[in-house]
Formats: sequence, C-alpha cells, structure tokens
Amino acid sequence: MRDRRDDPGALRRRLAGSRSAELRAWERRRTPVETGRERAEPTRPARPARSEDTGTLGLKAGLQQRVLDELGRRNLLDADEATLGGVVDELVASALANDELALNEGERRVLVDELRQEMLGLGPLAPLMSDPAVTDVLVVGADRVYVERFGKLELTGVRFRNDEHVMRVIERIATGVGRRIDASSPMADLRLRDGSRVNATIPPVSPRGPTLSIRRFGRRRLSARELVDFGSISPTMVDFLATSVRARKNILVSGGTGSGKSTLLGAMAEWIPAEERIVTIEDTLELMLDQEHVVSLETRPPNVEGSGRITARDLVVNSLRMRPDRVIVGEVRGGEALDMLQAMNTGHDGSLGTIHANSPRDALARLETMVLMAGVELPSRAIREQIAAAIHLLVQVRRYEDGVRRIEGIAEIVGLEGTTPLLQDLFRFEHRGVRQGRVQGEFAATGIMPHFAEELRSQGREMPLEWFQRAEPAR
Ligand SMILES: Nc1ncnc2c1ncn2[C@@H]1O[C@H](COP(=O)(O)OP(=O)(O)OP(=O)(O)O)[C@@H](O)[C@H]1O
Ligand SMILES: [Mg+2]
Repeated sequence: MRDRRDDPGALRRRLAGSRSAELRAWERRRTPVETGRERAEPTRPARPARSEDTGTLGLKAGLQQRVLDELGRRNLLDADEATLGGVVDELVASALANDELALNEGERRVLVDELRQEMLGLGPLAPLMSDPAVTDVLVVGADRVYVERFGKLELTGVRFRNDEHVMRVIERIATGVGRRIDASSPMADLRLRDGSRVNATIPPVSPRGPTLSIRRFGRRRLSARELVDFGSISPTMVDFLATSVRARKNILVSGGTGSGKSTLLGAMAEWIPAEERIVTIEDTLELMLDQEHVVSLETRPPNVEGSGRITARDLVVNSLRMRPDRVIVGEVRGGEALDMLQAMNTGHDGSLGTIHANSPRDALARLETMVLMAGVELPSRAIREQIAAAIHLLVQVRRYEDGVRRIEGIAEIVGLEGTTPLLQDLFRFEHRGVRQGRVQGEFAATGIMPHFAEELRSQGREMPLEWFQRAEPAR
C-alpha cells in the first residue's frame, strides 16, 4: 500500500472541508508533498519507496522530457486526457523496458503514476487543485506555494524541485491550450481544462523566477443566496440588484484585485431572463452561466509573429452584430469602454461588466481614461455625458480585513453636475469595528430612492420604499 501522502485522493479528503486536527498537524509539519520523505509512522505499514527515494530522479526528469518530445512529435500535446494518459503509459513502459532498470513492479507502478500525474496535470499542485476549499493557488517560487482557503492566504508545504520544475508545469499548461510562453513573451493568461484561470510569468518579467497565479474555477459559481449566507450582501440589496438587472439597467461592478467582482457579476447574470440572448466577452473564460442561450467570446493575445491579436474592443464591436439582448464584459480595461458605452446609449441596455477601481469615483475616472485609450478625440465633457447616460449603477465590492468580500456600496449615477458625473449612494456597508477577527457592521440603505424607481414601478416591477430605508446586520 502506498503512503497516504502519495495518494491525491487521500490528501484531498484530508484537505477538504473543515480544518481537522489532522490537517493542522499536517500543515505544521509542512512536509513537502512533492519530495517529502516522511518518517515511517508506526501505525501504518511501511510504504514502498517513492521514485525519488530510489535515486531515479534524473531518470524521471529524462523520461518526462522524452515523453513530452514524443507527444509533441505525434501532435498530441492538446489531446484529451484519456488519449494522453494512454500514450504516457505506453511510452513510459517502453522507455523503462529499454533502460534495463532495476525496478520492481511496485516501484515501477509508483513511477508511472507520478509521471502520469506530472505529465498530465499540474505536478505538485494537483492535490491543492482537487481541494474544493481552495480558491486560489499562488506559486511565488519553487518552495513557496500559497493557497487561499476561506478567504485566507496560507503557505502550503508543497514544493517544486526547482525553478525548471515550475517552468515545466507552466509550459505544459501553455502548450495544452495552444499557447507559448518564452523569453520573448514572458507573460500569459491561460485557462486550465477545468476552467481555472491561470496567469504565468517567467524571467525576464519576473527576474526571481517563474510564477503562477491560479484562480480556481469552482465547480459551480457562487449564487446570490450563498453571497447572502457569507455575509457579503444583504437580502434587500439582492432584491434590488435582481430587479435592476431584470429591468435592463446597465451595471458595473467595481473593486480591487480579487475583491469578488467576477463572482458578483456571475451571480447577477443569473437574474437575466432565460429567453434573452447573452454574449459574454472575457480575456479568459470565467463566467459560467446557466442560461441556455449564451455565446462566450474570448480575446486572443498576438501570436509569436505578433499578429492575430483580438482585443476586447474587437469583440464588443463584433458582439453588437450578433443580435445580443445582453452584452457582458468580464472586465472593462481598455478602449472597449467607448464601444460599450456607445452600445449602452444606443439601445443595448441591460449590459453588465466589471472594472478595476477602488471606489465608484475612481471607477468613473478610469472609465474616462479607458475611453481615451480607444484613440478617439472626444472632449472630456462628452465622455462624461456618455458615461452618465450609459451607466445606471456602480456596485463597489471590497475584500475587508477579515478576508470577507462585501459589497461596500451601491451607487446610482444620476447625471452630470457641471462636468462631473453625480453619484448617489443607495446602499452602504457601515463598518463598526472588528470583533474576534470578524468585521462588524450592517448593510444600510441611505434612505434615497433610485431615480429609476418610478420607471420600474410603471413597468409593474416591485421596488418598495422599505428597501431604501432598512439596515440589515451583516452576518
Ligand atoms: N463573496 C464572496 N465570498 C467568498 N468568496 C468569494 C466571494 N466573492 C469572491 N470570492 C472568491 O474570491 C476569489 C476572487 O473572486 P473574483 O474572481 O470574483 O474576484 P475579482 O475581483 O474578479 O478578481 P480579479 O481582480 O482577479 O478579476 C475567488 O476565488 C472567489 O471564489
Ligand atoms: Mg475578475
């Protein structure tokens, strides 16, 4: 029997769910998963040696290279996992047979298993990626791998052998999706087969070594109800946003990095009626929508020759020719802002998107800058008029000091005051200090009704006065 540490299933079970005493002990030991040499535990039978213990490390690396080369030759680098697995088994078996290795059946099986996992998957990251509680995996260096679990960043015991080992995993992810990462294009946004979003950097942009940032794709996205349960949003805010989405208001979610923008966007998209045609535009496919009628578009970076780039702007322009009922822009970050605003102002209402900004004011300023990035000479006032006319609501999200993502506020854009877009807060999270590591406070309405409340009521949509008068304690 193999040691439980070598069995990703067992490790997954141990890592999953609540942090058991066993898990805490495991974390304290921080024994490297990849190269760990655990002292034999007296209660369990001694495990067979891992391939590292048998001095076959060099052999393993060599084999891996040969298998990779062979897969490349056969044009199988992006085949499905079953095909890949078969080829790996076959090649490893023949390589081992030819190498006259003194491996017994057990050792050989261990080696094949490890190789297979390394070739196909994420190597040492595999156990982390199968832990449902892990939302992010961050590789800073060969011996510093962090995960985020329950909103908290933790250093794990996972180790890569060295930077080349990290590089190999990065290359594998990249070739698996038909991308390349090398010194001439040392950064890449990639997507794993399970939908997880990956950013990889290698020297020279990260001179200390390759890095990986994986935003894990949950098997399913968080629903608005779950966000309420997590204390991220109040039930009234959910009702208000749901009504606004259904009433085709244009809404931007704004927040810092990892503040929960895309998650909230996904939850809001849930309220789009099933009969509407949705076109989504993202740099890396991330939104998982339940509606049947969804067209997902993804930007493309330039190829090695520097051509073939498809920007979010190209996709926004294209999406408008696709007869969309709704256009969702995963993250507005450049010139597409102009086309998006123009679309919103010319009948494509009900659009949703996110924007990276630290406050609603900041979001507006950035939007203005992005419009200028489209390269169209527009006076500032004209841009602001477009913004004020196009966007109805700005939802600010924030990751608070206790690691909980909350909606910090919902503001309505009510027009221009002089040349400045006028923002009116409708809801706010009132921070009342921290107790036992948890931020205390309540989600409070400001008492102001949105300007479009009347319009919505006339459409027969419920928008009761009480929504804008309540304060609800955060859980
Ligand atoms: N309200 C929430 N409660 C708990 N976890 C959340 C919540 N919102 C988001 N998360 C988790 O936080 C992580 C970051 O979320 P998300 O991708 O939505 O952030 P983001 O602001 O879009 O990030 P980025 O700036 O990288 O695009 C994800 O792993 C997600 O599952
Ligand atoms: Mg995002």
